[in-house]
Amino acid sequence: MSDAVKPPEALPSPPGPVHLVGAGPGDVELLTLAAVRAIKHADVILYDHLVGPGVLEFARPGVELIPVGKRAGRHSLKQVEINALLLEQAFTGRRVVRLKGGDPMMFGRAGEEAAYLRRHGIEVTVVPGVTAALGCAASSQIPLTLRGVSRSVQFVTAHCMDDDATNAMDWSKLANPDGTLAIYMGRTQLPYFSAKLIEAGLSPDTPAAAIENGTLPTERRCFATLSTLAARAAAELGDGPTLVIIGHVIDHRPKEVRTGEEASQANTCRLFEHA
Ligand SMILES: C[S@@+](CC[C@H](N)C(=O)[O-])C[C@H]1O[C@@H](n2cnc3c(N)ncnc32)[C@H](O)[C@@H]1O
Repeated sequence: MSDAVKPPEALPSPPGPVHLVGAGPGDVELLTLAAVRAIKHADVILYDHLVGPGVLEFARPGVELIPVGKRAGRHSLKQVEINALLLEQAFTGRRVVRLKGGDPMMFGRAGEEAAYLRRHGIEVTVVPGVTAALGCAASSQIPLTLRGVSRSVQFVTAHCMDDDATNAMDWSKLANPDGTLAIYMGRTQLPYFSAKLIEAGLSPDTPAAAIENGTLPTERRCFATLSTLAARAAAELGDGPTLVIIGHVIDHRPKEVRTGEEASQANTCRLFEHA
């Protein structure tokens, strides 16, 4: 990461800390108590587009809310600009929260932001969040591991999967019939990585699922096989954030958890409706 952007010259008050906070996968009920507390105490919140509805309502009146999120095909701040903005805000002496969808340390570039801030002398704290794979697995009632079926789960990003670095990926490590794959940012790359996994030895009939807007009332799911998921997801899902799960655990979800939006209405994890 380039350090090209310099911190402000004047230091009006002691800097930092910056709190990197996970907002969970979407459903506001999945925020942690620590996340709610951090949001409530913030003077300024820099947030991503994946932060779910209702989350920012915990913020105090008058808090400065700064959207910095990335969304495929839409303008957003570059990572160096976000880093610089975080640093600038930390140097104001205000309580700064950097709010990210899911867990900040899971495919969220929190590691880069934290390293940048620490290099500039800013203390960083991290509040974990429920990552998308766990939220989607819960709302679809797919056990990510299951005795006798899956002994491991791998979290993988499909972002830039067809670039040179990923071409060098050891696909045999991912093509494990006794494990589960949870693939982030994988919608557009589905045809590519399905073909690679099949080439590496995973059966084309391996159960596969794509879950869009997991844990939200708009959740939609598509259940298929490794060889059919790409076409089914393209036909049945929209352009919301989508998590792909591959593995035999998918067949162990309850029968009522079906493909489609209507099914999701009955099954999303609205915990407090049942309390
Ligand atoms: C940049 S990554 C951020 C992941 C996030 N830090 C986490 O822990 O969930 C964004 C990807 O996470 C997945 N994702 C995030 N929220 C999701 C949701 N509610 N339903 C399905 N997938 C989701 C999608 O694969 C999306 O492209």
